[in-house]
Amino acid sequence: MSHIVVSTWRFGLASNQPAWEILKSGGSALDAVVRGVEVAERDPAVRSVGFGGYPNAEGEVEVDAAVMDGRNLGYGAVAGLRKIATPTAVARRVMEKTDHVFLVGNGALKFARAQGFEECNMLTEHGRRAWKKWKRERTGPPADVHDTIGMIALDQHGNLAAACTTSGAAFKLPGRVGDSPLIGSGLYTDNDAGAAAATGRGEEIARTCGSFAVVEHMRQGKSPQEACEAVVQHLIARVPSARPFQMAYIAIDKYGNWGAAAARSGFLSAVTSNVENQLYKSRFFIGYGGVG
Ligand code: GLY
Repeated sequence: MSHIVVSTWRFGLASNQPAWEILKSGGSALDAVVRGVEVAERDPAVRSVGFGGYPNAEGEVEVDAAVMDGRNLGYGAVAGLRKIATPTAVARRVMEKTDHVFLVGNGALKFARAQGFEECNMLTEHGRRAWKKWKRERTGPPADVHDTIGMIALDQHGNLAAACTTSGAAFKLPGRVGDSPLIGSGLYTDNDAGAAAATGRGEEIARTCGSFAVVEHMRQGKSPQEACEAVVQHLIARVPSARPFQMAYIAIDKYGNWGAAAARSGFLSAVTSNVENQLYKSRFFIGYGGVG
């Protein structure tokens, strides 16, 4: 079985490293993706994920995350979680320690506390200044935001897992949730078919259940590349309001082949396997003008 980990954006490459160490030593895809995305979640320079993410309109960082286990379609998610730097690990506890799948807001925070997660001030000085400037000038989102980290992995035992984690749209309305923690939108995986994750403008991505669609296309025989392209094309065709924005999917099939497609140029996939450890510019993009 050819084990592999694929994630979104440039910061994905650093996140792939601990994930790859786990996969290389025979560990599980689930452990790999949860540990992997934690690198981006804890990195204050990644301003769209976890600690140091841009805050909401009231100056508070609210994070969303989900994890999925391809062995049994296990799923856990949190949204609108404050004060916890590693929401994907909390999402995993939701999956493994409760008989629920999704906790939000204060309930998610209470649960994280009860599980022993440490609280911290998630708002960095950079985030605070950007928020103050936004309040003064209402200028729109900062240009250095590169959105979600989605990570998908296949382990040596043939098991797939996916994780997706974000601080969401900069200066969003408090309580706003995008695609990232939503099963079928931000992520999906099934050992029998493949794994997929999304990044980009959550309000548009959430409308097509695209990660689920990517996995189902692979189940029907499409390659991961063909599956991602089909879903981006469908999204752009069916949701015209999505055209100004960046949205992208990554996928791996149950054999360890991977693919990626984006709505616009500039999307990067980070790929780590026995034969490579590198960033790829998306080979496929539709290329309407716009932001993101
Ligand atoms: N894709 C992340 C978000 O829109 O929240």
